[in-house]
Amino acid sequence: MLDVPFGHFESLPDSINNTTQIPSLFTFQSNPYGADGQFVVSPFAGLSAINNGVHSSEINLLAAYQLSEKVLNIDSEVYLGTILQNAADPKLRLPAGEPVKPSEWLRKVAPDVTKAELEDRVTAPNTGDYPNLQPSLFTYNGLIFSPNSGNPDDIASGTFLFANNAMSAFQNSLVPPANRTEENLRALKSGSVIRGAKVFKQANCATCHIPPFFTDNKIHPVDDIGTNPARAQSRLGLNKFLVKPQIYTLDTPVPIPANAQVLDVPTEDVSETPTTLPQGILPNGGYKTTSLRGLYLSAPYLHDGGVAVGSGSLSFAKDGSFTVVDPSGLGLTGTLSQTKPADAASSLRALVDRELRALVIAANKANPALVRSNLDGTGHDFYVDEQAGFSPQQQADLVNFLLALDDDPSRF
Ligand code: HEC
Repeated sequence: MLDVPFGHFESLPDSINNTTQIPSLFTFQSNPYGADGQFVVSPFAGLSAINNGVHSSEINLLAAYQLSEKVLNIDSEVYLGTILQNAADPKLRLPAGEPVKPSEWLRKVAPDVTKAELEDRVTAPNTGDYPNLQPSLFTYNGLIFSPNSGNPDDIASGTFLFANNAMSAFQNSLVPPANRTEENLRALKSGSVIRGAKVFKQANCATCHIPPFFTDNKIHPVDDIGTNPARAQSRLGLNKFLVKPQIYTLDTPVPIPANAQVLDVPTEDVSETPTTLPQGILPNGGYKTTSLRGLYLSAPYLHDGGVAVGSGSLSFAKDGSFTVVDPSGLGLTGTLSQTKPADAASSLRALVDRELRALVIAANKANPALVRSNLDGTGHDFYVDEQAGFSPQQQADLVNFLLALDDDPSRF
């Protein structure tokens, strides 16, 4: 826990130390979702599936504990016992000195499973009976967050999937606030932003970061993108066990009646078959192309946030070049690991300048907590520096362009 830098989280029960930075929520048209794009089918182009994932598995590590045997190679009773032995609620903790089977203990202290692990959740149509649930592309633990219909006291109450879809609709309405900083207004006025747009095109950034949402909506294999692979691998262990993704029609009341109508979730153009992980994730994991809207608010960069430079570390000259004046602010080591913010303009320099990036990576790799967490800022080697044939002014212009992508990026 103490290894995790500020602004990062780790929520996947996959036995891989793959902390990720908390992403911004400008979700509209930036599907698929999750750093690796694993949430790719469902209403709202995968957004309802990631919202469901948060509520069905990430805050509920007990659900589908039987999968631990197959996926993590951890006996399911050992998995359950490990979580229960130090449960936050003392009533759930395994009794000291008395041998018990964790699954039997759990039912003894929480007899009604619908008020315990399955509270507000239904099982997907073809995923089996709890706890022997099968994963699918729609729900990686077989559960779907869907509180009972007709409860006026619960704003999440509705027909099947209502709450997840409502959250998706809300998130898709969020836009980055306009960048009204003095630096941005100056860069717009001087023509630097427009020159930067041309550099962006010339450096082939727009082949993947396609305007106006600055993404191609694709998952790129980690072998091509080269960023730290740990997070890309989080679902590979499930690939062999996937069942066809199915849901109930959206007018189905909850609890689900016996005659409820079932729909196949379409997976064409997403994965080879309905029971395989998305293209790009297979065979070795991948990362989806991040949208670039609101970058001025979301430093540090890359899924691991490893591309981080604090303000005051660089000094900028009139010709657009920079010098490192304070190396102690480089990397997560010099910023979020010490709860100091990363600076957007300086961190973007580190994204596109290979010499500065090497210093940032070295600062991350000198920090054992970051090494354990697989946070290093490597990869995405698309540089706009003198070695790539660009002047310092062009690099500065590109950064100003990236910082200007706010609520209305289509104007570029
Ligand atoms: C081959 C496709 C591809 C090309 C070309 C490409 N990118 Fe990316 N970009 C990606 C992917 C994939 C990611 C996510 C990688 C990760 O997080 O591990 C990404 C991430 C980023 C991020 C981080 C966003 C964030 O919120 O953390 C920025 C900024 C960025 N790219 C800018 C650029 C620029 C500038 C160029 C051109 C010099 C460029 N990209 C070229 C695919 C590409």
